Amino acid sequence: MSDKFNKIYDHSIKNPEKFWQEAAEDIFWFKKPTKILNKFNPPFYKWYEDGSTNTCYNALDVHIDKGRGENTALIYDSPITGNKSKFTYEELRSKVANFAGALKAQGINKGDRVIIYMPMIPEAVIAMLGCARIGAIHSVVFGGFASTELASRIDDSKAKLLITASCGFEPGRTVEYKPLVDEAIKIANHKIKKMILFQRTGHEVKLNAPTEISWEEVVSNAEAVDCVEMNSNEFAYILYTSGTTGTPKGIVRDIGGHIVALKWTMKNIYNIDTNDIWWSASDIGWIVGHSYIVYAPLFKGCTTVLFEGKPVGTPDAGAFWKIISDYKVKSLFTAPTAFRAIKKEDPEGKFFSKYDLSSFESLFLAGERADPDTIKWAENLLKVPVIDHWWQTETSWAISSNCTGIEMMETKYGSACKAVPGYDVKIIKPDQSLAKPNEMGDIVVKLPLPPGTFPTLWNADKRYKENYMSNYDGYYQTYDAGHIDDDGYIWIMSRTDDIINVAGHRLSTGAIEEVLSEHQSVAECAVLGIADKLKGQLPIGLVVLKSGVDKDDETISKECIQMVRAKIGPVAAFKVTIVIKRLPKTRSGKILRGTIRKIADNVEYKIPPTIDDPAILSEIKEDLIKHKILNG
Ligand code: COA
Ligand code: AMP
Repeated sequence: MSDKFNKIYDHSIKNPEKFWQEAAEDIFWFKKPTKILNKFNPPFYKWYEDGSTNTCYNALDVHIDKGRGENTALIYDSPITGNKSKFTYEELRSKVANFAGALKAQGINKGDRVIIYMPMIPEAVIAMLGCARIGAIHSVVFGGFASTELASRIDDSKAKLLITASCGFEPGRTVEYKPLVDEAIKIANHKIKKMILFQRTGHEVKLNAPTEISWEEVVSNAEAVDCVEMNSNEFAYILYTSGTTGTPKGIVRDIGGHIVALKWTMKNIYNIDTNDIWWSASDIGWIVGHSYIVYAPLFKGCTTVLFEGKPVGTPDAGAFWKIISDYKVKSLFTAPTAFRAIKKEDPEGKFFSKYDLSSFESLFLAGERADPDTIKWAENLLKVPVIDHWWQTETSWAISSNCTGIEMMETKYGSACKAVPGYDVKIIKPDQSLAKPNEMGDIVVKLPLPPGTFPTLWNADKRYKENYMSNYDGYYQTYDAGHIDDDGYIWIMSRTDDIINVAGHRLSTGAIEEVLSEHQSVAECAVLGIADKLKGQLPIGLVVLKSGVDKDDETISKECIQMVRAKIGPVAAFKVTIVIKRLPKTRSGKILRGTIRKIADNVEYKIPPTIDDPAILSEIKEDLIKHKILNG
């Protein structure tokens, strides 16, 4: 390895303003910033505060200005419906400009919030970019969330308008969106003024005019509009993510830093150039979908694939290879779960051998820990580098990765490679001292965070400061724990809060506990994420009943599962609740969730010295065995 990467990395840490000023040269500005970083009010830093630009202009118009309007911007492929389409930059801009005009005609202006609750169809991308064009702030909500979650996002964002579709498709099931949306609008305290609904062919639903309007109708009456000039520090979007309570956190993204950082990553991290075909197999409802299905590839001017399907079951374990082969995809980004699912169905790669993957150069994995077995299996099959990289909704781009466009680094199985330029990552021990190499601790990033990360939480500066920026003075607390080895490789070992990762989806066990506590027979409960071979982790619920409850355990368990599905959504993948007699606690009354998890995972555990009654641990173990929950 040469020292090319080290030089670039050191430059970014020693001279962040210079580094990000240079990167900012690569994007379109209406007014180029002269003030690169405002650090006068920590932890509220501002990048490019006197610059003005537009997200949509950088995603579409700029490429047309450069004579690349005929290049393909978006490829849509839906093995679920059999639909396929392609849009050039020119075509996509025309649709976006028109839809932006439709939003304006519905009374949406700069700064207004718009909720997007849609399946993986081109109209979802058009809706996001349409908002960006007129400076409206979108908040995309993942389709696997239930009405209550949607309602909490409507209330927190105080959105004026909601964009949805008549349905989404999951293998073997149609997700009817309209009843879910109706219910959310009904329970939300804040009242949405209008709904635009895209009717999917063969699944049209009835709309109640004048507040509910079809996509077709708003678009046919609209006039195309141009991009509005936005200050760099105005917000592009809010993306809600699980917090430690049931109240989700509205991660916000400011406009200028988002464009600069994401465009920079496409070449430097992913080695993608303008003529390349890029595919991120995620969902636009997650951060990976925001950053790497929509924004970063379009800022770069390459081609992005929008895939409405699954790694398995749509129709088989060859679905990913088919997309790569059909469209000559250069690199794929997905979650390790997707590869575990393919490996489970087709361990020998029989489907793989049917396709020509000569265009394929690299696979990127993130969203959860990538187990070495899966990485090695993928490497053996694909014969290309498989890169585990680490990031969060909060940052919107990788904190650590192999920066393949700068210099390919050696893989260390189980590590998410080195800190990416812009991130000064440290490990802090419980006594607040910095850890030595290989010592475990909390993973933190020295402030200021680079551009493109979250400047605050929506309407919650205090929560931002207290939650993320206060426990370690001068550092952002990632809530991940791990260590950095002698070579600077970062090893992400676990979360330090109650967040679990289920199939690459971020969930709060605290939020599930809040739902279980609402069951009228439940006195107390604990939800924990136990290891799962396919999904990485799965939530299980343990409930203790109130005295005098005469319902049988099975009924209560079923009711609890149904409540979580109805209140959080199918995405919680919450399928197991067992009724137990008592929960193990410390003498001060804290539930020993970590110890129960170790028992369930069948790994060694120590009896905590503060435990109130150690006998409960054996009872729990017996219960887990009885219900066939014990791992291993
Ligand atoms: N709308 C409505 N429901 C959805 C949904 C959506 N957009 N996405 C998932 N769901 C539902 C599923 O249908 C499933 O419902 P069920 O309980 O009725 O079966 C439930 O939510 C759980 O979904 P999931 O955890 O994804 O499990 P699965 O068994 O359907 O699929 C995989 C398993 C591995 C195929 C799937 O998780 C996958 O493709 N993972 C890739 C990871 C990924 O994209 N991560 C995103 C972040 S990078
Ligand atoms: P999300 O905000 O949904 O992207 O989830 C972020 C969390 O997912 C991180 O804080 C980690 O706990 C986990 N995560 C993401 N990428 C990785 C990775 N490569 N290795 C281990 N954990 C990861």
